[in-house]
Amino acid sequence: MKLKKLFVLALAMLPVSMWAQGLKIERLAGDYVNIRVSANEQSKYLLLPVEEKMPESQISIIANNDLVRNINVKLAVNRVDYFVPILLDEFRGKNVEFLTHMSIDHSNRGGVGSEVRISEIRLTNDFDMTNKEKYRPTYHHTPTYGWMNDPNGMFYLDGVWHLFYQYNPYGSMWGNMNWAHATSTDLIHWEQQGVALAPDANGTIFSGSCVVDKDGTAGFGKNAVIAMYTSCIQTPHGHDLQTQSLAYSLDGGKTFKKYDNNPVLTADIADFRDPNPFWNEAVGKWNLIMASGQEMRLYSSPNLKDWSEESRFGQGLGCHKGVWECPDLMKLKVKGTNEEKWVLICNINPGGPFGGSATQYFIGDFDGHKFTVDDASRYSDGKALWQDYGMDHYATVSFYNAPDGRHPMMAWMSNWEYANSIPTLQYRSANSIARDPFLYKGNDGQLYLGSQPSPEYDNAGLDKVVKLKGSKTITLSNAQGEEAVIVYDEKAMTLSFDRSKSGEVGFSKNFDVKTVAPLHKKLTSLRIFVDNSSVEVFGNDGEAVLTNLVYPKSPLTDMKVK
Ligand code: FRU
Repeated sequence: MKLKKLFVLALAMLPVSMWAQGLKIERLAGDYVNIRVSANEQSKYLLLPVEEKMPESQISIIANNDLVRNINVKLAVNRVDYFVPILLDEFRGKNVEFLTHMSIDHSNRGGVGSEVRISEIRLTNDFDMTNKEKYRPTYHHTPTYGWMNDPNGMFYLDGVWHLFYQYNPYGSMWGNMNWAHATSTDLIHWEQQGVALAPDANGTIFSGSCVVDKDGTAGFGKNAVIAMYTSCIQTPHGHDLQTQSLAYSLDGGKTFKKYDNNPVLTADIADFRDPNPFWNEAVGKWNLIMASGQEMRLYSSPNLKDWSEESRFGQGLGCHKGVWECPDLMKLKVKGTNEEKWVLICNINPGGPFGGSATQYFIGDFDGHKFTVDDASRYSDGKALWQDYGMDHYATVSFYNAPDGRHPMMAWMSNWEYANSIPTLQYRSANSIARDPFLYKGNDGQLYLGSQPSPEYDNAGLDKVVKLKGSKTITLSNAQGEEAVIVYDEKAMTLSFDRSKSGEVGFSKNFDVKTVAPLHKKLTSLRIFVDNSSVEVFGNDGEAVLTNLVYPKSPLTDMKVK
């Protein structure tokens, strides 16, 4: 063991500076190192070794003397948890330099002992993308490798569902935000389409949305797919500069070009992000809802480029225990009637009913200028209505341009309380199944938001169905005796989910939590979607929903009803 360490140390200290297979690693002054790839090199990838508990090293990527971008990678020192690939296609024919620091900047460490393992850096044509994770879901969308959070820019066009998402290609923890892209024709099988929007000098690419500009109002052409997203610069002064940018696609979402005159919307506030624009037929304009600190700002525009603020929403209403993020605004039918109401979606973190992240909603009217809740007393004194009563339902937004006036929604199936430490390494985080939102009347005569599994799943055989007549306990288990327990309590009018014995729970002190949904109507059925590491429970086809992660030794596919 000691010998091995010495050997690695000796390697790290070698003054390497010869070209070997198109790769040359040069030590510079002040512990800097330059990893150079020659212009003739044909390899597909440069592999970088990652150790997750290390701090991030900044790497400047320079091609033929120009800075392409800076990326942050947790370069390995003591051990290699996994490798991440840098795709070299982008730099073909150019001399590329990866300039970084050799020593990891630990306050109580230093010297050669904490030098990064440059000896592990190599060129290759093969990066193994086969699944290595037993917890990877089978029918939920996950990135092949790397980190994912919020679903972004979801839209439907010509039979294809497009999903973009917050993505770190250089590690399985949050950082280096890009938009990556995946497509599906059935909301079950997803095809990875790679990175769609990479960081630029305006910043990393935070959350946002896509619209289909049927009439070409923005000047990019009829039917252009237009992405509006937050550009985020972290300044050396410790500030976040969040501004709103546009990119457009003239090939139905396959490739995007950024608008030359970004950003298109700015504000003098740190948390100003996650733009969600939509065409409002009633006023003949685009409307936009933006998360701004602990409120929402509403805007209008004729062309998606010039925005006028219309109003603000949220003061004194709903939960304010965290930052408001990822908004959505849509008109929905009340089930079984012709009545329509506007629903404002507000993701909040922290402040969720069981800690951390969750999705609250408000019901009311929107006239293109102002959103007004129907009954403010439902949201007074911090009271809130939640779309899902599990712990793993966040950043929920809808698909734009879905057929038949639908607004299917997807959530990031995790929680900021522990998302970075869930027990997977190759990738982190999955998205929920898509759900079609609807409004229904509870026993108290009030309206509530429901989320029904999208009809695409109806004949896919993915769910277990339980008919209910009175209280029931449903136990999902495996051969190892691990279990998740769902209780329908008709007297208390609650539906709960207990994952305390469901497998690995100790990776975060905030994970072992029982979640409970208050019920507004008696339940007559449950639909339960169990995948390798998630359970989504739908009471009355979506009138009560609980989405929770589980990490059992083998999937919890046995079901007992008592
Ligand atoms: C929500 C969020 C967004 C932001 C993005 C950054 O999970 O914090 O508000 O745009 O993640 O990755």
